[in-house]
Amino acid sequence: MLPPAIDEVGDLDVAREFSTIGVVGLGTMGAGIAEVFARSGFSVVAVEVDADGQERGKAHLRHSTVRAVARGKLSAEEQAELLGRIVFTTALTDLADADLVIEAIPERLDLKAGVLKRLDEICRPDAVLASNTSSLSVTELSVQTASPARVIGLHFFNPAPVQTLVEVVRTVVTEPEVIEDVTALAEKVGKAPVVIGDRAGFIANALLFGYLNHAVSMLEAHYASREDIDAAMRYGCGYPMGPLALIDLIGLDTAYEILDTMYHQSRNRLHAPAPLFKQMITAGLLGRKSGHGFYVYAAADSSEVVADAATPQQGAETGTTVRPIASVGVVGTGTMATGIVEVFAKAGYDVLVRGRSAEKATAAVAAVANSLDRAVTKGRMTAADRDTSLARVTPTAALEDFASVDLVVEAVAEDLEVKRSVFATLDAVCKQGAILATTTSSLPVVECAAATARPGDVVGLHFFNPAPVMKLVEVVHTVATDAEVIATAQQLCVDLRKVPVSCGDRAGFIVNALLFPYLNDAIKMLEGHYASADDIDTAMRLGCGLPMGPFQLLDVVGLDVSLAIEETLYLELREAGFAPAPLLEHLVTAGRLGRKTGKGFRDYN
Ligand SMILES: NC(=O)c1ccc[n+]([C@@H]2O[C@H](COP(=O)([O-])OP(=O)(O)OC[C@H]3O[C@@H](n4cnc5c(N)ncnc54)[C@H](O)[C@@H]3O)[C@@H](O)[C@H]2O)c1
Repeated sequence: MLPPAIDEVGDLDVAREFSTIGVVGLGTMGAGIAEVFARSGFSVVAVEVDADGQERGKAHLRHSTVRAVARGKLSAEEQAELLGRIVFTTALTDLADADLVIEAIPERLDLKAGVLKRLDEICRPDAVLASNTSSLSVTELSVQTASPARVIGLHFFNPAPVQTLVEVVRTVVTEPEVIEDVTALAEKVGKAPVVIGDRAGFIANALLFGYLNHAVSMLEAHYASREDIDAAMRYGCGYPMGPLALIDLIGLDTAYEILDTMYHQSRNRLHAPAPLFKQMITAGLLGRKSGHGFYVYAAADSSEVVADAATPQQGAETGTTVRPIASVGVVGTGTMATGIVEVFAKAGYDVLVRGRSAEKATAAVAAVANSLDRAVTKGRMTAADRDTSLARVTPTAALEDFASVDLVVEAVAEDLEVKRSVFATLDAVCKQGAILATTTSSLPVVECAAATARPGDVVGLHFFNPAPVMKLVEVVHTVATDAEVIATAQQLCVDLRKVPVSCGDRAGFIVNALLFPYLNDAIKMLEGHYASADDIDTAMRLGCGLPMGPFQLLDVVGLDVSLAIEETLYLELREAGFAPAPLLEHLVTAGRLGRKTGKGFRDYN
């Protein structure tokens, strides 16, 4: 049965006309939402709690539109027109004639419920009432009003003028026309709406915040530094920001509330806010808005990071000696090995490539030559540079030829026994002081070290695929690695024009440990029929600015490879939430391995 307020509207056979939009709360989100609608020609009535709030809101809008003008995205006249369409007020009663009101006040159920109840009394019966909540139940908010059928979630992303995703959240009682009309309106203002049900965190935050929380736990456990955690996700996954910098932007208090709400609904331990959140919030470290969060900023609301006591010193200043590296041996002839050979040769190192046969070693050099030829064709390298680089590479079938190299990089099959036997041979063959590195992405580096009588010289150098393109290298130290070896490996990465990050010898290192539980959560969301693979991919690309959605990425990486990584993480960390999603196991069993087999989460031609 329809509630009385909707009955009064009568039969609606045409879509609502929206012309006046109300926005309540002009903070980070509200000001952005007001800008979005004013920019598209709508009249906006913007309500703040008091005159101070109003001034802050105006300043947000001025700041953001001035930036848009400076970047050539808006002309000065358009800016003036845009601002002219917004009426600022402190009286909710000024919303009596609005067609749609979006509340964007702080993430607290009591506050939001109070405002929606008042709006229900003030606004016309056909007006739509929307909440920008990130995690609270829209259903719970809607029942605080006398007309829950006209209440909807309209979740914009930060910064609202830039991010195109809008999650349109329907409850079990939202009127279908309300959903249709609001979705059409979101499209009209240039957004990409995704309609979903009412669950804590919706799509994007439900997947994002588990990952953000995990990054905070990693920092709290001193597994890696804040700079390295952030650099790992930027350079290893192409994310626009690292997780800790992103939490600083979102606000630690807001992030805490979102996680807490998600935890209370999911009872998933991975959503329980890491204890560090509470400590920092209590100390007033809220992120950019307070000028200090995981990083220190030049001022409140500034994006400029300034150095503090935790900022890492540059290489030479640390005082650790670095071993000279001029010649390198690479063991293996696969994709990673040939990519790594190319990286070293281009950076001016002499490289020996060892294959299990002379033919394989020669074929590996040919693969490097091919890749360099492509670079020349694309104009990224001169023919002369290609020839000089290639002249530095020598194939061999004998590990004994590695007797005089300064560094060996092992990149053979991801099989512990095979790797251990390579390390035992290297130990017998290589000169004293040579550094022995493994590129393993999931096996313990210390197992390779233990196969030698020189564990202090063994380190992990985890390159990403394709090695010539991807900037990140995870430098993995075991409990036995010498400080000098770690420092040399880091300096070497810099000399290779890569970005090194340092971490301990734990399953998944930084990137895979943060990435794969998130991908697994996406599979569980699909399996739970909450949203389609397309909607989940869209939400993560457009809401979080990720280069690929989770299902796109899983199909590229390969579902068998993904399952193996998830199993490794689960077996080592025994975290119930890391247990691979049954759907992933079934797809692998059915031979649907992703792009390489033509079928994965999607079908390919
Ligand atoms: N920060 C984000 O990245 C983000 C992203 C998407 C959604 N959200 C959601 O948007 C909402 C607002 O978050 P924010 O980050 O903009 O918070 P904020 O603290 O920056 O802004 C809240 C604003 O609401 C005002 N306000 C408080 N009570 C009010 C009232 N009764 N009437 C009018 N104004 C009132 C405050 O003065 C403040 O300016 C929250 O529900 C949040 O979860 C936040």
